[in-house]
Amino acid sequence: MKDAEPRVGDNILELANVEASYGPVQALRGVTLAVPKGKIVTVLGANGAGKSTILKTISGIIDPSKGQIRFEGGEIQRRDPSWIVRHGIGHVPEGREVFPLLTVDENLRMGAYTRSDAAGIASDLDMVYAYFPILKERFRQEAGLLSGGQQQMLAISRALLSRPKLMLMDEPSLGLSPLLTQEIFRIIGRINKEQGTTILLVEQNANMALEVADYGYVLEVGRIVMEDTCKRLLEKEDVQEFYLGMKSQGVRGQRRWKKKKQWR
Ligand SMILES: Nc1ncnc2c1ncn2[C@@H]1O[C@H](COP(=O)(O)OP(=O)(O)OP(=O)(O)O)[C@@H](O)[C@H]1O
Ligand SMILES: [Mg+2]
Repeated sequence: MKDAEPRVGDNILELANVEASYGPVQALRGVTLAVPKGKIVTVLGANGAGKSTILKTISGIIDPSKGQIRFEGGEIQRRDPSWIVRHGIGHVPEGREVFPLLTVDENLRMGAYTRSDAAGIASDLDMVYAYFPILKERFRQEAGLLSGGQQQMLAISRALLSRPKLMLMDEPSLGLSPLLTQEIFRIIGRINKEQGTTILLVEQNANMALEVADYGYVLEVGRIVMEDTCKRLLEKEDVQEFYLGMKSQGVRGQRRWKKKKQWR
């Protein structure tokens, strides 16, 4: 389905006109997007565009003030976060947020708190240790002593332990070296293919995100301003200019769309 539009009905997740605010600050101004089952969808956007807010409204951390969020056909926008995790949405938050004083092993088991199938949990632990062997080596160590990249691996693994159908990933490349970023994205691609996990990935690193994802949305100040297959987004001059740094003149985080009007 590389070049095809996502077909309605195949979507595991749909957002329709979602609005969300923090007090007087309106962060989402009517976001509509779809995530087809089995695919990787990315939302690109500069600092403050509302990327993390999209993921927080999906996982129930904040309630949208308007609009619908449908997961597997049912509305979830007023469900609480633990209901949402139990029903198959895992969230890897921005900045990892591992429990620093708990061991790697304890952090992973926290990810499985909604489950009671000991054999399934054990086999999922083996699975994440196979993706990230370093975590197995460090499994008795406090998570706070891991490097940033290792903590990112732990955060992804912890989300996998809830055996999500849909995984929300908030800037997995943040603060990582280019090499480690590549490694993490390679594993994100493998998790999608090998575990069949659908992934909604928000990123500022458009290069990597557009390479690993099937379909992409561009978010600007709480609004989707563009969407297309990643293949076509990669070819668009404005995406190249503002997100891939090919002719970049803007300061990171203060980019403006040159031809903004034609997309509205
Ligand atoms: N807890 C909060 N209280 C008040 N305003 C907030 C809060 N969290 C986010 N905002 C505001 O909401 C808007 C969207 O923020 P959000 O964190 O979703 O952006 P983002 O695209 O994830 O940015 P970044 O790339 O920097 O992570 C911003 O204007 C931000 O200042
Ligand atoms: Mg963010």
